[in-house]
Amino acid sequence: MMPTVFKEDFNYDESAVKSDWNWNKLFVPINQKISPMIPHEPDDFKYGSPFKTKPNHQQQQQKQKPIPALNPNAASFKMFEQKTDTETAMNSKEKHSKRHAKKHAKNPRNTVSDDAILAIHGFKKTKKIKDSLQGEIYEGRSLKGSKLSRRRVIIKKTLKSLQKQGISIQDGMNIVVDENIIKEAVILSHLTVDNQSMGSAICKLLAFFESSDAYYIIMEHGGNITLKEFVDIAHEHIKNGKLKASVWKKTCKYIGWQIAATLYWMHQDMNCAHLDLTLENIVINRGNFIENEQDGTVTVDRGISCKICDFGLAEIFKIDGNKLKKYFEYDVDEEILGAFHVNSKYAMSGSYKSPQIFAEEVFDGRKADIWSLGIILFYMSFGIYPYQRQSVNDCGYWSVKHSQINLFCDMQHLSHLNSNKLMVLIHGCLCCRESERFEIEDVIKALWFKTYFNRYTDKIKQQSEMQLNKNIVANNECKLDHIPYYKPQ
Ligand SMILES: Nc1ncnc2c1ncn2[C@@H]1O[C@H](COP(=O)(O)OP(=O)(O)OP(=O)(O)O)[C@@H](O)[C@H]1O
Ligand SMILES: [Mg+2]
Repeated sequence: MMPTVFKEDFNYDESAVKSDWNWNKLFVPINQKISPMIPHEPDDFKYGSPFKTKPNHQQQQQKQKPIPALNPNAASFKMFEQKTDTETAMNSKEKHSKRHAKKHAKNPRNTVSDDAILAIHGFKKTKKIKDSLQGEIYEGRSLKGSKLSRRRVIIKKTLKSLQKQGISIQDGMNIVVDENIIKEAVILSHLTVDNQSMGSAICKLLAFFESSDAYYIIMEHGGNITLKEFVDIAHEHIKNGKLKASVWKKTCKYIGWQIAATLYWMHQDMNCAHLDLTLENIVINRGNFIENEQDGTVTVDRGISCKICDFGLAEIFKIDGNKLKKYFEYDVDEEILGAFHVNSKYAMSGSYKSPQIFAEEVFDGRKADIWSLGIILFYMSFGIYPYQRQSVNDCGYWSVKHSQINLFCDMQHLSHLNSNKLMVLIHGCLCCRESERFEIEDVIKALWFKTYFNRYTDKIKQQSEMQLNKNIVANNECKLDHIPYYKPQ
């Protein structure tokens, strides 16, 4: 039987306007003169060189033989088999060249550069973004002639040597990490290739492959800046009197809703917890501040959108159909873990850890996400974290623990950015007692999100029903057997 998605007592406003799934419609137009403060990355634009350079041998080869990329939309998209069905679409000459390149790439004696292995799969890197825990993150492009022709992508490379040992080297020290890129790729494929959330606020997986010493995840490019960077710029503008608090509050709600609605789908319909929700793991597209030349004030680009990335710590839980919506306590005597409960320690970012993770207790993965969401909503709204340390000596944490966040905001002179409805939501998310903390359904129904919820409730309900049906069919057809479900330790 299908679980009920919405409680009967839920007060749904039938008169609310219903529309297609377009977040933008609720983002009130702003009078704007365009002069972006964060310049757009020129997409495909390149100044032509005044000199005609002779293409090198590799470039010449690429020109002659366009390399087909993996097609993420193909039903046959399989990540672990280098033999993809896209190969069937290739002519034999291309097949030969790809096979030859693969053979070369797999020979451990040949040190194949990133550029070569990426080119084999139809991509190239253009810029390093940063070192990650076990490798590097690059911006890149799909090659001309591939199916994703000249699309901006993100390349996440993980070194096999570090991945195997579950470590990261930082400042010369070995640090144990829980990240697993293969699991990340499978989960991302499940959430963005085999299924898809409304609003598409998760960075889509485009390809996954390996060389002799590294794994590569290719993802759609979600945006040029992280939510953290975007929020920090916004609060600078607010401090300088350039950005109105009212405009910022609307922006926070708009972004917050996209994250919450996506999380709803993940928790309720996909049995998935992200477990590393941070401002750095959400990226912003078109995060421009538009200047009004007359008075020097700024507003936010109407085309702004956000996407969640970094599923390196995400978990999918295998749920017994009958117990789907029940909430279980951890039974210490029998060592039974209830649905969504995690008993291993996670290396998720410190400030976002729920008190249960912090205390190394068994915790509910969904509730851990809700705590992180509370931190994100707080930081977005006020430009600071609610606390520095999880200790009652920390004034902020004391106020969180004693449901006095309002007081903390007053002390920090942030009341102009506050509202009662926002506080109710933040209190619900940052509730130290896990069982009393909001679930994602409470979050999307919070009064702060009322306008969005009223508008999209039907769509969300529809999406849930469709997804749950799809899950049942996929389960019956054993299509979910490859999912790396969470295994208690
Ligand atoms: N799909 C994407 N679109 C745009 N930027 C991205 C994308 N994926 C990752 N990034 C950028 O790369 C950074 C690191 O990516 P990610 O968090 O997935 O890797 P990580 O291994 O967890 O790194 P870290 O150790 O920094 O958390 C993100 O904070 C973001 O700035
Ligand atoms: Mg990250």
